[in-house]
Amino acid sequence: MTILVTGGAGFIGSNFVLDWIEAIGEPVINLDKLTYAGNLENLAALAGDGRHVFVRGDIQDDDMVDKLLREHQPRAIIHFAAESHVDRSIHGPAEFIQTNINGTFTLLEAARRHWSALGDEAKRRFRFLHVSTDEVYGSLGPREPAFAETHPYQPNSPYSASKAASDHLVRAYFHTYGLPTLTTNCSNNYGPYQFPEKLVPLVIANALAGKGLPIYGDGMNVRDWLYVGDHCAAIRTVLARGAVGETYNIGGCNEKPNMEVVKTICRLLDEMHPDSPVTPHDKLITYVKDRPGHDRRYAIDAAKIGRELAWRPAQTFETGICSTVRWYLDHQDWVRHVQTGTYREWIAEHYGG
Ligand code: NAD
Ligand code: DAU
Repeated sequence: MTILVTGGAGFIGSNFVLDWIEAIGEPVINLDKLTYAGNLENLAALAGDGRHVFVRGDIQDDDMVDKLLREHQPRAIIHFAAESHVDRSIHGPAEFIQTNINGTFTLLEAARRHWSALGDEAKRRFRFLHVSTDEVYGSLGPREPAFAETHPYQPNSPYSASKAASDHLVRAYFHTYGLPTLTTNCSNNYGPYQFPEKLVPLVIANALAGKGLPIYGDGMNVRDWLYVGDHCAAIRTVLARGAVGETYNIGGCNEKPNMEVVKTICRLLDEMHPDSPVTPHDKLITYVKDRPGHDRRYAIDAAKIGRELAWRPAQTFETGICSTVRWYLDHQDWVRHVQTGTYREWIAEHYGG
């Protein structure tokens, strides 16, 4: 048996592939376009491992996706591939529409063709798991209850609007064609291999370099933080036991204002890396112009996945952020390769530009 993962060279996708091979050992076909966010260095531990087959390609290329499905006959598609950074979606939304909406549509059509031609048993077992975000639900006031799966969709950024559109397409393919879909909506992830444009790795990298730590607005926007390994375990759980056609919210029950996250990272760095150019690290905190349309608060009600599938996060914010800071301290080469673009040279050499 085999699964097809899209976007498996990105942050969560590569953590998922590594986790899957270790926990399940089932072969993975990893389809990734290798945009600026895709990095095969994340998967270096699988070099020479026949259970990981990497294919460079775009999910919008339907002939290529058809061919992959025909050749490898995966029992499931786990769809991570996306443009994922809110700030980039504000500066240039077009790519988000292409990949997140058209790409998901192309993949759903290919999955439908593949699934329709399967025998009864394989058809019953097949799954299309769509990895989505809590941002589709919009922004919460300070005392509003956390997002449940029934919360209305109110996306506010081009990124979240494109993810919302993809969620609706997935829903429609279940209701109209019976394609056995599952959707997960997760809160903010942090952990190893996150591209240093997102808050947690950006703050760690800048603090170590003695650069300013940019805080948007008043620093009191709230996110619900989940360690990436817990997200991967939740996806495995939903794939194994989730009810077809359902959506599952995934969160860490760790609501924190951004300023608290940044100060926690600074404190950990003070303890673990007292030799930085500027200490204490929180001296580097710099207020900058707010993100346009910045959502104030996200919070996930993860009761459904806990009750129905018995998934709970293994890490608290304290344990997860501590091991994350340790990981970035121990992998400064990885950050340097991303920042200097060295990882792209490797891709150009192996995949021709
Ligand atoms: P990422 O930006 O780190 O990685 C995205 C990956 O998709 C990259 O490897 C990129 O090369 C690939 N990709 C982009 N366009 C592609 C295309 N057209 N065809 C094939 N591959 C393509 O993203 P991430 O943070 O790992 O997020 C993965 C998924 O999880 C996304 O769907 C995102 O919406 C969702 N999500 C992310 C978070 C989070 O906190 N990062 C939280 C909830 C949900
Ligand atoms: O909620 C899930 C989402 O979390 C995912 O769907 C997205 O793919 C992922 O990027 C993330 O979105 P956010 O916009 O919440 O993440 P980001 O790390 O960009 O920002 C986290 C918070 O920190 C947000 O309130 C903006 C703020 N921020 C961010 C950056 C990069 C700053 O204050 N300064 C910064 O430099």
